Amino acid sequence: MSGPQTPSQTRPLTCTEVQVGADLAAWMAAGGGAALRRGLQDPAAIIPALEAAGLRGLGGAGFPTHRKWAAVAAQPGPGNGPGNGPGNGPGNGPGNGPGNGPGDSPEKWVICNGNEDEPGTFKDRFLLTRTPHQVIEGALLAALAVGAAQVALYVNPRETAAVAVMRAAVQAWDGHALLRQLSDAIGAPLRLAVREGSGLYIGGEETAAVASVMGGFPFPSLKPPLPVEQGVDGAPTLVNNVETLAQAGLVLRIGAAAYRALGRGDAPGTKLYSLSGDVLRPGLHELPMGVTLRELVFEHGGGMLAGRPFKAVFTGGPSNTLLTAADLDVRLDFDSLRERGSRLGTGAMIVVGEGTSILRKTAEYVAFFAANSCGQCPSCKIGTHQASRILARIEAGTGRAGDLEALDHLTQLLPGSGRCGLVDGAATVLASSLRSFPEEYARALARRA
Ligand code: NAI
Repeated sequence: MSGPQTPSQTRPLTCTEVQVGADLAAWMAAGGGAALRRGLQDPAAIIPALEAAGLRGLGGAGFPTHRKWAAVAAQPGPGNGPGNGPGNGPGNGPGNGPGNGPGDSPEKWVICNGNEDEPGTFKDRFLLTRTPHQVIEGALLAALAVGAAQVALYVNPRETAAVAVMRAAVQAWDGHALLRQLSDAIGAPLRLAVREGSGLYIGGEETAAVASVMGGFPFPSLKPPLPVEQGVDGAPTLVNNVETLAQAGLVLRIGAAAYRALGRGDAPGTKLYSLSGDVLRPGLHELPMGVTLRELVFEHGGGMLAGRPFKAVFTGGPSNTLLTAADLDVRLDFDSLRERGSRLGTGAMIVVGEGTSILRKTAEYVAFFAANSCGQCPSCKIGTHQASRILARIEAGTGRAGDLEALDHLTQLLPGSGRCGLVDGAATVLASSLRSFPEEYARALARRA
């Protein structure tokens, strides 16, 4: 793990700096809890601070965090009458909304989404096991800012270490004075609990996470309504990724300006980049948001494995447009990658060197999406499997005439046809691979008997 490089010796903390596991006293001794204390002093200032910091959703979509929090804060909840605009939700004690006492509206929820299962992404499990209180503090701040009394720490059950550490971490908060103050500010007893998900990839999609927290199968549902309008038990629900919440705590702890200054150019803060593939030093790197791909691969990643030339990067996880050698100087932040026609996604960067087949990796990822389709939407269920079968036979050297045309057809037919983004991701990576590396497909097809 390498930290952001700033010239000052008194550089502010980053969100992975204090790694003490479930030990709450050690985390507090290292400055933990300061964000929550600050939030409790002036709850209405929390959302404006996130806006000033420019924090965006780090689960992949990059949606402005303050807008999501403001949307939930603006919804009525127990003791929080309608018309409490953005940033005005918390601190309204019971019965403080116009004509609206406790119990008038459903209890709002915060879901900390730790389902993380995207190929090549391994940042959330790191935060959950190494610095769980940083994540919990962010979730508690969110509860305070939006006026939610229910906080679900939604963890992938296959990450057994993360589940165990989070359970111990939650227990450590039991009876803590800060939790009592928080409950007083919200106007209802705060309930903080670890909720194990289904272990299914699709369970990370936000509406699926809501369904899972309600005890159902994690089927994604059509949006709208967004979870901020109708989530758990129909109540306004804030679903944020683990890293987003960890960073929210950092914003409140060090201040919006200091947070912004951690990033490069217009990109604020830091980002956890999951680096894997054909590099010498794969691993998790917390770096300024907006480092270049070249810096990530050749400085922090130690360069290419066995000195092989750089070929491409699957970004995202592998559900976006590939970056190639022409993109080495692109900044790895939401806007720069979007301008480049790709996406930052979760910050996973799967590096491919010459000698590694893009076709094989594409076949692998499309097969992953096919296997993880929930099966609700026919185009996703059938289309991803169809693409996967064709890719597998081309890769095996048994491709048929018309296979490329069929793949191309699927890349045009599938996007936008599902109720969640799974089918879009499969189609995007396939289209990008066909476009950028046609010679690999042509070679494999030429091999057929
Ligand atoms: P999205 O673009 O539909 O939504 C992003 C977020 O903004 C959602 O929480 C949505 O509810 C919220 N939002 C949108 N409009 C809003 C409004 N007007 N007011 C308040 N909130 C609003 O994206 P989605 O489908 O939630 O996520 C896609 C991303 O997830 C992809 O970029 C992908 O990289 C990532 N992903 C991450 C995985 C992981 O393991 N971390 C797995 C699979 C995908």
